[in-house]
Amino acid sequence: MTVYAIIGGTGLTTLDGLTIKAALHIDTPFGAPSAAVLKGDYAGREVLFLARHGHPHRIPSHQVNYRANLWALREAGATAIIAVNAVGGIHAAMGTGHFCLPHQIIDYTHGREQTFFEGELDHVTHVDFSHPYDASLRRKLADALQAEGAEFSSHGVYGCTQGPRLETVAEIARMERDGCDLVGMTGMPEAVLARELVLPYACLSLVVNPAAGKSKALITMAEIERALEEGMGTVKAVLAWVLAG
Ligand code: HPA
Repeated sequence: MTVYAIIGGTGLTTLDGLTIKAALHIDTPFGAPSAAVLKGDYAGREVLFLARHGHPHRIPSHQVNYRANLWALREAGATAIIAVNAVGGIHAAMGTGHFCLPHQIIDYTHGREQTFFEGELDHVTHVDFSHPYDASLRRKLADALQAEGAEFSSHGVYGCTQGPRLETVAEIARMERDGCDLVGMTGMPEAVLARELVLPYACLSLVVNPAAGKSKALITMAEIERALEEGMGTVKAVLAWVLAG
């Protein structure tokens, strides 16, 4: 049976309703993960939970130890990963409060440790990453979003920026020309590290603001926090739906 791990992003540092049975402090060859991996029951099913930015929320996207996080989840027994990510909306369909299950990603980050395959190697490995997200996991999430009556897109291209600053209007315009529908700071290298560990991985994105230049107003933390608060109820219900299935 699949053991799901949920990586909670901004707005999902804890998972209410999770009956915690163990807090696993896992040391990895790549250092410490963002927080203890919580093992517990959610929606009647054993699940693992990790707060990507730590608990409390204190590690910015560019300083998350993605390798330690993925390694620790696999050590804890995860066989599939659902990542929850707050994003900015680029495509007109991606208004605040909209959900998206990206099917592709473009990586604009730099300087992040993005592979397990380095150091003293016996051979060079190139993993296939043509389709970064697991189709069957995305289908389950789509069914759950549908069941919850959420407004969502079952496809989208996630552009991952370095942060922690938000983008300029010109950067978003370039990303739009590149085909990006969403912008976030945490999609990579998380997705590729899951692939290197052969863990099916999907991303449940919640749009929390229009990307730079996509509205007349400047982007404020207050609007992002409001959207997160409004959207997290649906995120939790969607996760419960998938786990109960
Ligand atoms: N840009 C990058 N990352 C984000 C944004 C954004 O506008 N909103 C939430 N995460």
